[in-house]
Parts: sequence; structure tokens; C-alpha cells
Amino acid sequence: MVFNQEPFSEAVNNWDLERLYIDLAAAKREFAPRARQGLTEVERTHLRGLLCCYNPAEIAHRLNREPGGIQVDLSRTLYRYIERLTNREENTVQNWRDIVNWLEAAGYRTNQPQQRVDWGEAPEVSVFYGRHTELETLKQWIVSDRCRVIAIIGMGGIGKTAIAVRIAEQIRDEFEYLVWRSLPDNPSPLSEILVNIISFLSDEQSTDLPNNIDDLISKLLNVLRQHRVLLILDSWETVMGGDGAERYQAGYEKYGELLRRIAQQNHQSCLVITSQERPETLTSCEGETVRLWKLEGLDNVAATEIFRTANLEFGAEDATRLIDMYRGNPLALIHISKMIQELFHGGVTEFLRQNTIVVPPPIQMVLKQRFERLPEWEREILRCLASEATPLDSDTLRSRMSSQVSNSEFLEQLYSLLQRSFIEKYCQDGTVLFTLQPVVRKCVNRFYGR
Ligand SMILES: Nc1ncnc2c1ncn2[C@@H]1O[C@H](COP(=O)(O)OP(=O)(O)OP(=O)(O)O)[C@@H](O)[C@H]1O
Ligand SMILES: [Mg+2]
Repeated sequence: MVFNQEPFSEAVNNWDLERLYIDLAAAKREFAPRARQGLTEVERTHLRGLLCCYNPAEIAHRLNREPGGIQVDLSRTLYRYIERLTNREENTVQNWRDIVNWLEAAGYRTNQPQQRVDWGEAPEVSVFYGRHTELETLKQWIVSDRCRVIAIIGMGGIGKTAIAVRIAEQIRDEFEYLVWRSLPDNPSPLSEILVNIISFLSDEQSTDLPNNIDDLISKLLNVLRQHRVLLILDSWETVMGGDGAERYQAGYEKYGELLRRIAQQNHQSCLVITSQERPETLTSCEGETVRLWKLEGLDNVAATEIFRTANLEFGAEDATRLIDMYRGNPLALIHISKMIQELFHGGVTEFLRQNTIVVPPPIQMVLKQRFERLPEWEREILRCLASEATPLDSDTLRSRMSSQVSNSEFLEQLYSLLQRSFIEKYCQDGTVLFTLQPVVRKCVNRFYGR
């Protein structure tokens, strides 16, 4: 069939092309009454390319044309017709992605195939307080801004998995497929996980999958291009913690390759990862379509809900002290609330009178695992800060260290620890001071006290 041999013919799978051609021809007539009637073959091809989520440079590459030429064509023709068709002011197209979003909103997208969902090992999140701003922003990044990769980064127990579940529940209708995979400790080699995901996405019909990992990634990318998939990979930190430039553990470097390619190549899907570690792979791609969200603790209102659910007794000031002590970490607050209930009959004041910080076992476990993965040098910085009662500036901190390292190495390590939420910083009289959050300090002293 001739139609199928046209470039970007796969657009017909998801879009009502015939209706679009007719309606755009009418818009063209209004915009350029003297131009040839109907859409030209070139205009139709460009339209299909955009609808398949190829950017103008990629369309040019595939058609063997100059990228600049396509850009000029688009801004003289299609962009203007589409503005008319969708009742927008002239010259309001900011970006080629607007075209897909606007035409979808105008109802030209068809054939939303039956949605397929595989929640994998995603936990059920029945109780979830606050996080309104975070939810709205992250949903906007995924749905409206059509980001290709979102990384939710934060301390263990801060609520990354919970918010990812909530987001996925709320926006699942925007996607043809939803796939959740939680990476366990010591995850399987990437090839196994890819085969598993691709099989699901191809409705178990892919029997001849390649052995080569790069080809498997290409295969996944093809599916991410053809379908709108929400893929969530939870606990990405389990593949990280190595010594290489991107910090992947030995044998897991290809996970970085997967992330890079999903971030850099065009497709219509979104990969969400949650991680305690910031994936360095994404640093160089961060921007319009690749974004990182550092998840902080719950605000006072949401954290107080946890205390209420646990039937604690508290005044506003005590609640604030307790929340701040654990930096709003919900896992810590849930555990400490139970303990206060058992030991002090729910009395927060009584607990605070003990003047100590208790580190709930799950938080201890998470921190211990993370400390063990740190290079010795970074551990020394933590030990040093933990043994000081007051925050230190970087010069003093450096002078207290026993090992010999260059200034640049020291700053790199300090920066890396700050990025990974181990260290907090304050500004006092124009000087930046570093310290540890109370729970981290307690654990460092307990595990590595000197
Ligand atoms: N907004 C919230 N309201 C109430 N409880 C929450 C909220 N966010 C998280 N929790 C609870 O806090 C605990 C820790 O959350 P979660 O497992 O999402 O943390 P995490 O950041 O994914 O931790 P890890 O890095 O160890 O995987 C869970 O019991 C979760 O249900
Ligand atoms: Mg988690």
C-alpha cells in the first residue's frame, strides 16, 4: 500500500490524519488565500513527523534535508495553520512539542488503545498527606511539559516511592501503558529487566528479542516512541554507589546507558525514577525534557496529620520541634510516633524532655547501607562533621581532616555529599557553614564514632 511507504506513516496509528489534512487545508486557505489549495505532500510529511514526536532536526535527518530549511518551512506553513486551527494568536508556537499537545487537546488523537497496566511490586499507598505543590508540579512536568525523564531524589524514607505511586495513579489515563518496576537490592542484570518490560509492552508478542544489551535498549526506545508509556523504575540507587565517574556499581554501568538514551532520544513516553542518589548521568542532560526533583520532608501541616493519626498529644511548638528534628521525614515520623505512643502514652512533651534523638531502625538501616557505599574519604568528612557540636566552614572542616587530598578533591567530595542530602548548609554572616542533620549525625557517631 502506497500510504504505508510514506515517511512517518505510523502517525496514522494514533492520529485522525484524514480529518487533520482537511481541517488544516481550511486553516491554510484562511492564512494564505493565494497559496496552492490543500496541504502539499511536504506539509503532510512534516505534520506526520511532528505527530510521531520527531523534532525538526530529526525530521530533516530522516528526509535527508537541511535542518534550517525544515525549521523555516514549518514556521512559514504548518505552525501558522495549526495556530489558526486551534484558535491561537499568530506566532504563539514556542516549540515543536506544542503541536502535538495542541492537536491532542483539540481531539485529533484517536485510537487510544486499551490501556495496559502492570504495577509490578508497587506498594499500595492508602495514607498520603500534603505534597500538593510537589504533585502538581511533577504531574505538569510529565503531562503538559512532556518530559522524557523525571528523577525524584531524596533521603531514604522521605516519601519518593509514595509520591511516585500517587502521581502514577493520578495520570495513568494519559498513557497507553503503565509499567512499574522496583529495583531490589542487587537487581538482575539490565538485560533481564529489559526483556521483561519489552515483553509486557509488546503484549508478550516479542519472541525474537536481541541478546545484545544496546539492541535491547533500542528496541525499548522504539516502543517508547510508538506508544505513550509511563515507565517507573523505583529505587534506582540500588545500581549506584560505585567508584566510576557516574557512580554505577561494577556490572551495572549499562543502567546508565539506558538512562542516557531515554533522556536524549525522542519519544512520547516518560521514565520516572526514584533514587536516594542523584544519578550523575542526568546532570549533563538536565533541561527542558529531563528534570530532577529533590524531595524534601513533609511540611508542618502534613506531618502533624501523622501525629494525629497516631493519637499523639501535642502543642504546636512541640510538634514543630519534633518535625524539625526529623526534617519532616515521614518514615521517621511514623516510627517515632508509634514509639511515643507506647513509651509516653502519646505525650510529645514527655518525649522531648528526654532531650535526645532516637533513630528509628529502618532509618538506621537505610543510612548504614548508604554509608557503606561511600568512598572512605567522604565518610571521613561525615565523621569530622559529626564530631563537631557546631557547623563548620569549609576551611575549618578541611583543616580537621586527617587524610591528605587536594583542594579540588575535597571540594568535589563536599559537593557530592551536599547533593546527596547527607550534609546541610547554612549561611551565617555571609559565611557558608556545613553540618549534618540530627539523624545522620547520630548514626555517623554510632557507626563510626572516633
Ligand atoms: N505524604 C505522605 N503522607 C503519609 N505517609 C507518607 C507520605 N509519604 C510517605 N509516607 C510514608 O512514609 C514511609 C516512607 O515512604 P517511602 O517508602 O515512599 O519513602 P522512600 O523515599 O521511597 O524511601 P526509600 O528511599 O527507602 O525507598 C512509607 O510508610 C510511606 O507510606
Ligand atoms: Mg522507595
